[in-house]
Amino acid sequence: MTTVPSPGSTAEELRRAMVDHLRAEGTIRKERVANAFLAVPRHAFAPEVSLAEAYEPVQALVTKRDENGLALSSVSAAQIQALMLEQADVRPGMRVEEIGSGGYNAALIAELVGSEGDVVTVDIDPFVTDRAAKFLDGAGYSRVTVVLADGSEPVDGGLFDRIIVTVGAWDLPSAWTDRLAEGGTITVPLRMRGLTRSITFRRDGDRLVSVSAEVCGFVKMQGAAAHDEFLVLPRGTAEVGLRFDELDRPDTGALTGVLETPRVERWTDVTVGNREPFDSLYLWLAGVLPGFGLMSVDQELDTKTVAPANKMACPVIVEGDSLAYLALRKISEDPLRFEFGAHGFGPGADRLADLIAEQVGVWTREHRAGDGPTFTAYPAGTADDQLPDGQVIDKKDVRILISWP
Ligand SMILES: C[S@@+](CC[C@H](N)C(=O)[O-])C[C@H]1O[C@@H](n2cnc3c(N)ncnc32)[C@H](O)[C@@H]1O
Repeated sequence: MTTVPSPGSTAEELRRAMVDHLRAEGTIRKERVANAFLAVPRHAFAPEVSLAEAYEPVQALVTKRDENGLALSSVSAAQIQALMLEQADVRPGMRVEEIGSGGYNAALIAELVGSEGDVVTVDIDPFVTDRAAKFLDGAGYSRVTVVLADGSEPVDGGLFDRIIVTVGAWDLPSAWTDRLAEGGTITVPLRMRGLTRSITFRRDGDRLVSVSAEVCGFVKMQGAAAHDEFLVLPRGTAEVGLRFDELDRPDTGALTGVLETPRVERWTDVTVGNREPFDSLYLWLAGVLPGFGLMSVDQELDTKTVAPANKMACPVIVEGDSLAYLALRKISEDPLRFEFGAHGFGPGADRLADLIAEQVGVWTREHRAGDGPTFTAYPAGTADDQLPDGQVIDKKDVRILISWP
C-alpha cells in the first residue's frame, strides 16, 4: 500500500511516502536502494527546510548560490539520487568515491556498501565539506571520509570500484579513469553539445564503455575541469540565446540581424503525441549535425520572432550567417498531436532547414524505437582511424564516440 503524507506526518512517514513514490514511478527498482532511502534521515542534511520539503521526491534543496542566483551546491533531488544509485549498482564491501558532496548521498552510499565498504566524498568548496562532515557525524555516518579537493584532479587514494559524480561534467578527466579499478564503473552526468545524460561507464583498459544512460540535469562543475558554454545573442538582447558547448564557436557578428530575415519553414510528416518523450531526437541531431547548439527564449522578452519546439532548450544549427532550429506545430487537438519541422533564417535558411528535416526523418525511421546509443570514451590522443564508426564529440581529455544500433 502507498503511504500518503499529511501535514502532521513524522519524518519516518514522509520517508516511507518518498520511497513509495520513487518505487511507483519506477525510479527505485532494487530492494537495497529502497532500504538505503528508508534508513537515512534526509532532513538531517537540510535542517534549513521543513520536513515536508526535505522529503519532496523531485525537489533539490539548494544550499549555496553564486552572485547571480545560480545554484552552486545542493542536496540533490531524491529522484536523481535514486536514478544514479540504481545505475551505479553499488554492492556491499565496495570502495566508492563520490565527487560533489552534500552528505546525504554519501550516507546512502554508506548504507549500500555496509560496514565492510568504504566511502570517500570530495568537494571543492569548504562550506560544503564542513556541512557534509558535520551532518554525516550527526546522523551516525562518521565512517564516511570527507575530502576538500578539486575532484577532477589526481588524488592519492587508491582504486575505487565505483565513482559517482554528482555535479555536471563536460569532460571525463583522465584522473577519473586512472583511479577506477579495472571493470569498475563511473556514473557521471556528462554534458555533450549542451545535452546532459547520466551515464554509467565501465572501465575497459584506457576506454570507458557505457552500460546505461538517463536524461538528467545538474549544477556545473567548478575547478580545473570547468567548461563554460559560449553564448550568442543574435537579436542583441537576452530574448533569444544560442548556446554552444564544444570547441568550435560560431561567428557572433555574422549572426547579428539573422532573425530579422524572412523565415523559411519545412514540415516532415513525423509526429509526436502530447507528453511523448523525444529526447533521443535531440541526441541524434546533436551528434549528426555540424554547428549544433541549443536555443532558448526568455519568456518575459519574447516577441514571438522565433517559435522553437521548446523555449527552454531547442536544437539549433548555425553556419556562417544562417541558422535553423527544430519546430513543432499542432496537427490535431483530440488526441493532441504535433508535427516536427524546422524554421530557417538567413541566406542558407533553406539548406539548414532541409538538413534538420532530413535528420528528423532518419531518426524516426532508424532510431526512434531503439534502445538509444552507447557511448565510449577514448583517450584524447586516439587517431580517427582507430575509432569505430559513429558520431564523435571531442572533449579535452577524451573523445566520446556515440554509436547508434
Ligand atoms: C549537486 S551538489 C552535490 C550533491 C550531493 N552529492 C548530495 O548529497 O546530494 C554538487 C557539488 O559539486 C561540487 N563541485 C563542483 N565542482 C567540483 C569539483 N571540481 N570537485 C569536487 N566538487 C565539485 C559543488 O561544490 C557542489 O557542492
